[in-house]
Amino acid sequence: MKKIKFMDTTIRDGQQSLIATRMPISDMIPILETMDNAGFHSIECWGGATFDSAMRFLNEDPWTNLRTFRKHFKKTKLQMLFRGQNVLGYKCYPDDVVEGFVAKTIENGIDILRIFDALNDVRNIESSVKAAKKYGGHSQLCICYTLSPVHTIEYFVALAKRLEGIGADSICIKDMAGLLTPAAAFELVTEIKKAIPLELVVHSHYGSGMAAMTYLKAVEAGCDVIDTAAAPFSQGTSQPATEVMAETLREFGYDTGLDMDVLIKIANHFRPLREKAIASGLLNPKVLEVDVEMLRYQVPGGMLSNMVSQLKQLNALDKYEQVLEEIPLVRADLGFPPLVTPSSQLVGTQAAMNVISGERYKVVTKETKDFVRGMYGQTPAPISEEIIAKIIGDEKPITVPPATLLSPRLPDAAKEIAEFTEQDEDVLSYALFPQVATDYFKYRHTQKYGIDTTVQNGDDPVYPV
Ligand code: CO
Repeated sequence: MKKIKFMDTTIRDGQQSLIATRMPISDMIPILETMDNAGFHSIECWGGATFDSAMRFLNEDPWTNLRTFRKHFKKTKLQMLFRGQNVLGYKCYPDDVVEGFVAKTIENGIDILRIFDALNDVRNIESSVKAAKKYGGHSQLCICYTLSPVHTIEYFVALAKRLEGIGADSICIKDMAGLLTPAAAFELVTEIKKAIPLELVVHSHYGSGMAAMTYLKAVEAGCDVIDTAAAPFSQGTSQPATEVMAETLREFGYDTGLDMDVLIKIANHFRPLREKAIASGLLNPKVLEVDVEMLRYQVPGGMLSNMVSQLKQLNALDKYEQVLEEIPLVRADLGFPPLVTPSSQLVGTQAAMNVISGERYKVVTKETKDFVRGMYGQTPAPISEEIIAKIIGDEKPITVPPATLLSPRLPDAAKEIAEFTEQDEDVLSYALFPQVATDYFKYRHTQKYGIDTTVQNGDDPVYPV
């Protein structure tokens, strides 16, 4: 019997995509042991935006959460999403932060690190892979899927081979925007499976309404694992529903390893949480619709909703259509980066500036300048001399991996936050999110010792992946 494995995303990507990562761990704990018995290949429970969100919005310590997951998930592998040199933040961190983070991640219970770089710059994930190997973790390396003249099947297959070359234990086609069509998935999976012998995972989002069909064709072409979420936190901008894919594939003769009775218990647990989120407005019915604009503009759903709120703040919502049209132009100017954190925010904001200021690149964000300077890594296509001159003048972009220019951060970080440190992991939280972590530590301190401090959230805004 043919086998297909499932990774469950309900408590990470599912809730991140539908309710902006606002599910407290207390809502998850009662169902974790049941989830452990469903027969999932792995459960994605950590990383992505959950780390930041735990401290910023939920007053939770992400490391304590990870240990809680590990305690309850006794047999299922635990998986996380890791942004390579960006760790779980929005910029490039030095190697000591990457290594320290990977070490603690594995020590606290993660088995599989799904590692990606927003630009598919392999140099930006090498340190993470090295650290994962050193501490005994599984490196699942990503191909960030996107559409552009340079992102051909040959490009992606060559990328998969390079990922294998730097030590991938498995490969994931990460379609963060739901752009992967059933036909493209069939071809891409077929070619990658021909080229390399590693386990292949397909990760997609339902926003454009194609992901379930895409998975079916990907499975037919030989992919080994698909990512799905429990029905109440599936579809819309989340993943296809586990129950639907499991039934469909079972009928086609696949052994899914899943226990349908257990899946129903899981769905019954999450349904009231979905209803509560709809009632409170946290789950906006808009994210549940098939997003036809996505098919046209090829931008992730989360990026559009982010942009709407940005334009509202600037009192420029009437410019929405124009900004949508500007996004692909900015993306082309910047060498066709895949639109995923952090490049999606950077391109979206620059496109908005170009429209609102009335002149392209009259106002240039610091992020766009750093991007053109090469501070995020190598772009898929080169940026033209003309655009470079327009954005950074006579400056020469760097050609080395950006992290090689950074000095170690942890020794200073440890000193700066010594007053509040209760565990070694706190230094890493602080190194990634100085303001958010400090505010959380103050809150934690207040809870323990009753000293009144005001919690204010700073640092970069939270973005969906
Ligand atoms: Co995703």
